[in-house]
Amino acid sequence: MSKGLFITFEGIDGSGKSTQAKLLAKSLEDSGRNVILTREPGGSSGAELIRKLLVEGPPNRWSAETELLLFTAARRDHIEKTINPSLAAGKIVISDRYADSTRVYQGVTRGELRSSVDKLHELMIVKEPDLTFIIDMDPSVALKRGLSRNSGEDRFEEFGLSFQYKLREGFIELQKDFNSRCIVLDGSEKINSLSSKIYKLVQKKLDD
Ligand code: ADP
Ligand code: TYD
Repeated sequence: MSKGLFITFEGIDGSGKSTQAKLLAKSLEDSGRNVILTREPGGSSGAELIRKLLVEGPPNRWSAETELLLFTAARRDHIEKTINPSLAAGKIVISDRYADSTRVYQGVTRGELRSSVDKLHELMIVKEPDLTFIIDMDPSVALKRGLSRNSGEDRFEEFGLSFQYKLREGFIELQKDFNSRCIVLDGSEKINSLSSKIYKLVQKKLDD
């Protein structure tokens, strides 16, 4: 049985993560690989229920601390029910967002929360991806893309543009801390050229 591989996509809202995650899943499936495409917050039935609490409603519905606990609870369920069993079965797990989103979003929302983020991760999550694609792009373009979707899940996007600029910096900083698994890509590239670059990088990782 082939060894599982855990791939995550990260970046600001509207940067093209979901688009690229889907295209990668399709290319890998077409090449005969067993793939699970999942997302956070969510990715298991319990975590999807928690997702609704997080992404709907007014921006200040939760305190930053409560929000951090909800993201962590959702992730724990996602790992237990979806990620770990799939990796154990030798599948390639592709997650649209994962723990780096908590490090950056909750760290940027309230700087002093970052140590709580790291402690909770050590205590309840632990698992890191094998490969992370950080899709970098200009927040003003990404925000327009994101809001144009009208998904009803815009609680986070509604924090505004300056917040997105801080997030962008946060993701670039994060790459420095986790440079063995994180690759930064230019999200303003055409969808197909970006997806073929990503596919080649994943092939290389699978061949290692
Ligand atoms: P995210 O998951 O990061 O929020 P999406 O993949 O949902 O972003 O993309 C947001 C919007 O931008 C979608 O309407 C999508 O079709 C479009 N989009 C994604 N990637 C690109 C790209 N490289 N160039 C132009 N538009 C894109
Ligand atoms: P998502 O649906 O992926 O948003 P988008 O498709 O717009 O990128 O995620 C919902 C929001 O949740 C998004 O604004 C990022 C935020 N988020 C956090 O703040 N912390 C986290 O740990 C995760 C996973 C997401």
